[in-house]
Amino acid sequence: MNKPSNIAEQSVADFYDALAEDYDLMTDFAGRFVRERPYFHMLIDKHNVRTALDAGCGTGFHSLLLSQLGVTVTAVDASQKMVKRLQQHSDEMELKVKALVATFEDLPDVVTENFNMILCMGNSLAHTLTEQKMLAVLRNFRDLLKQDGILLFQNLNYDRILSQQEHIQSRKVTTSKTFVRSYEYRERRILFNVQTLENSTAVTSGKLQTIPLRPWLREELAGLLEKAGFEKVHFYGSITLQDFKPEGSKDLVILAQNGL
Ligand SMILES: C[S@@+](CC[C@H](N)C(=O)[O-])C[C@H]1O[C@@H](n2cnc3c(N)ncnc32)[C@H](O)[C@@H]1O
Repeated sequence: MNKPSNIAEQSVADFYDALAEDYDLMTDFAGRFVRERPYFHMLIDKHNVRTALDAGCGTGFHSLLLSQLGVTVTAVDASQKMVKRLQQHSDEMELKVKALVATFEDLPDVVTENFNMILCMGNSLAHTLTEQKMLAVLRNFRDLLKQDGILLFQNLNYDRILSQQEHIQSRKVTTSKTFVRSYEYRERRILFNVQTLENSTAVTSGKLQTIPLRPWLREELAGLLEKAGFEKVHFYGSITLQDFKPEGSKDLVILAQNGL
C-alpha cells in the first residue's frame, strides 16, 4: 500500500517509521510475552476467540502472542517499518500472521472478513485526534466484528494524567540507549516526545521525536462506543482486568461487545 494520504495519518506513519528500529528495545518486546501471556490466554478461552484483528499492531507483540495461542491473526498498521519488523519476528518465530500496511480509517477497503476479537493496544487510539474520526474508526471496528465479537483496547489513563499534569511518562535505560517519554500540555492535545539517547561515555547524542495525542477521557470514549453500536462496555485499569480508578490506574482498558 502507498503511504496514507491524510496529513495526520501520514505523520503517525512517519513517527513510527522513525521509531521502528528501537521500538522493541524501548518496550521490552521479550518481557511482554512473559507478563501478558496468562491474561490473553484467559481472555481467548473466555470469549472463544479463534480469529483476531490487531489494529495498530506495531512490531507485532500481540499478533505473535495470539498466534502462539492458536488464534488466526490479521495485523494492520499505518507504519510500513513497524509492519516489516512484525514480519521479521513472525519469520524468526515461525508463526503465520497476515500483515497489512493500512490505516484504521481504510479498514473497510482492505479487510473483508469478520473477527471474534479486535485489539487496539499500546495507546494507538490516542493518535486519533477528533471525535468525528474516533466515531468513524469505532464504527469500522464494530463492522468488522462477528456478532457478539469483542473489542479490546488499551489507552493510557488520561483522566489521571491530565489531573496530575505528569511531565515524564517513563525513562527506560537499556545497555545501549536511554529512552525518555514525556508530555507537553496543549489545549485538547498533548505533545508526546520520545527522546532517544545513546549511552556513550564520550558523547551525549540522540534524537527527539514529537507527535500530538488526544488525551481521551473515559466518559468521552464511553459515549462514542455507545454511538458506534457497542454494548456491555466494561472499563478496567490494566490488562489484568483490575478495577478502573480514574485517579490511580495507569491504563484505561476497555472491553466492549458488538451489540448489533
Ligand atoms: C504505540 S504503538 C503500539 C503498537 C502495538 N499495538 C503495541 O502495543 O506495542 C501505536 C501504533 O499504532 C499505529 N497507529 C496509530 N494510529 C493509526 C491509524 N489511524 N491507523 C493505523 N495504524 C495506526 C502506529 O503506526 C503505531 O505502530
